Amino acid sequence: MMSDDRVRVFDTTLRDGEQSPGINLNSQEKLHIAYQLAALGVDIIEAGFPAASPGDAEAVRLIAEKVKGPIIAGLSRTRREDIRAAFESVKCGERPRIHVFIATSDIHMQYKLKMTREEVLEEIRSAVSYAKSLVADVEFSAEDGSRSDPEFLIEAFKVAADCGATTLNLPDTVGYAIPEEFGDFFSRVMKGVGREDVIWSVHCHDDLGLAVANSLVAVKAGARQVECTINGIGERAGNASLEEIVMALRTRKEYFGTETDINTTHLYPTSRLVSRLTGFAIPPNKAVVGDNAFSHEAGIHQHGVLCDKRTYEIMRPQDVGAPDTKLVLGKHSGRHAFSERIKGLGYHLNEEEMAKAFVLFKDLCDKKGIVSDGDIEALVVDEILGGATKRTFELRDFMVNVGAGGRGSATVVISDGERTVSDAATGNGPVDAAYKAIKRIINIEPELVSYKISAVSERSDAVGEAVVVVKLKGVLAQGRGASTDVIEASIKAYLNAVNRLVQIAEARGINILPQYVSTV
Ligand code: KIV
Ligand code: ZN
Repeated sequence: MMSDDRVRVFDTTLRDGEQSPGINLNSQEKLHIAYQLAALGVDIIEAGFPAASPGDAEAVRLIAEKVKGPIIAGLSRTRREDIRAAFESVKCGERPRIHVFIATSDIHMQYKLKMTREEVLEEIRSAVSYAKSLVADVEFSAEDGSRSDPEFLIEAFKVAADCGATTLNLPDTVGYAIPEEFGDFFSRVMKGVGREDVIWSVHCHDDLGLAVANSLVAVKAGARQVECTINGIGERAGNASLEEIVMALRTRKEYFGTETDINTTHLYPTSRLVSRLTGFAIPPNKAVVGDNAFSHEAGIHQHGVLCDKRTYEIMRPQDVGAPDTKLVLGKHSGRHAFSERIKGLGYHLNEEEMAKAFVLFKDLCDKKGIVSDGDIEALVVDEILGGATKRTFELRDFMVNVGAGGRGSATVVISDGERTVSDAATGNGPVDAAYKAIKRIINIEPELVSYKISAVSERSDAVGEAVVVVKLKGVLAQGRGASTDVIEASIKAYLNAVNRLVQIAEARGINILPQYVSTV
C-alpha cells in the first residue's frame, strides 16, 4: 500500500540499537545491515550519531553514499557542531534527513540540561532553523516526551514545526508509559499542535515490556512513523521491535486501518543477520522471529494445525521468511546455489567477497560434508565481514592439553604483523589456559566480561561459534570466532575482541597497547 496514510518504518538499529552495551559494529558491518534494511523496505534508516565519534560519522557517510532507497538520517543534539556533523555525513545521500532532539521533561531540563523552558524553546528554534537551512527533511524529537508537561510539549512541537520540522517525534524515552494513557496523551498532543502538514512519529523503549504496545496505540491515535529496531535491541531493555510492530499492523490490518511497506519475507533473515553481527542471541520464544515462533508442541495444537493451520497460526512462517525446512549445501553444491543461499540469508557480498566465501565454503565441505545455513552465516561473519577489523594480532598456531580434574595447558603462537611470538600457560581448562597465554604475549589484561559458545547447526560436527566481550580502560569490545573446533573458535573470538578493543580505543584516543614482551 502506498497511500499517504501508510505507516513509515524508521529503523534505528544502527543508532539506538547500537547503543546497547557490548555492541560495537564496525562500518563494514553497519553497511551490511543497512543494505539488508533497504531490501526489507524500511522508509528511514537512522544510520548513527555523527557527532559521537569520527567512526560514527564515517559509517553514516558510507551508508548515505552507498545505500539507495530509504531516507538516511543522522541524529544530532541541538548544538551547531552536531548539526553540522550530521549534515556532513548525510549530505551525499539521495534523501538526507537531520534528526534533532532535546529533552522537554522538567526532570531532564532541570537536572540534565540545566535550562529553563524558555531556553529549551530557544534551542529548538535555532537548531531546527539551522538544520532546515541545510536539508529539507528535518525531524524533531522531544526526548522524554511521555514524561513532559503536555502543554509545554505542545509548545515545543509548535516551535519545531514553525521552524521547518516535517516530522515530530514523541518518545517514551524511559519506557514509562502505559498503553491506554499513552494513546490519550498522544492524541492530546497531536490535537494541541494542530498541524496537518507534519508526520507524527513514536519512539518507545521497553523498560516495562510495553514498547510495542505503546507504539501501536500511538499508530491508532494517528502516528504515521514508528521508530524501532530489529530484534528490539537498544539502550537498557531495548527499543520497540520492528518485526513485532510490522506483523501486528499486517495481521490486524482491519483493526488499525493502515499498514507498512515492509517486505515481510525479509524479516527472518534480517533478524538473524543482526543477531549474528551484534552477538545478541534471539530468545527461542521471541515473537515473530524466535526459533519456536511457529513450532507446536502440545498434542492438541498439533492435531489442530494438521487439520487446518489457521486453528493455531495467525501468521505463516513463509510470511516472515522463516524457512519451513532447513536447507543444507554440500560439496556438490555449485557457486550459483551458494551465492543464492548467501543472498537469501540477507548478506550482500560483492564479487570478490563472494569468491572468497566460496573457497572457504568448499574447505568447510571437505571438513564436514554437509553445511547448514548457520555454518554459512558463521563463515561469512567471521571471515568476510570480520575482515573489516584491523588485525593487530593474528593467531598463527596453538596446541592444548587437558589433564585430569579439568586442568589445561595451552601454547599459543601470535603474530602482530612484524613479529611472531609464542607463549604457554596453564589454567582451568584449555580455553582459560589459552587466554592466559594470549595475555602474556600481548601484555595487556583485558577483563573477560562474557563468554558464550554455541553450535550453529544441529549435528555433532557443527561449526562452533564463540562470542566474547572484553573490557579495558572503560572500553568494551565484542569478538566472534567460528570453527569446527570449539577451542579454536574460542581463541579466534578472544583475539577478534582484543583487535576490536585496540581499534575502538585508538579511535577514542586511548592508548592501551604497551610494548609487548617476547618470552620464547
Ligand atoms: O529515546 C529517545 O528519546 C531517543 C531520542 C534521541 C529520539 O532515542
Ligand atoms: Zn531511544
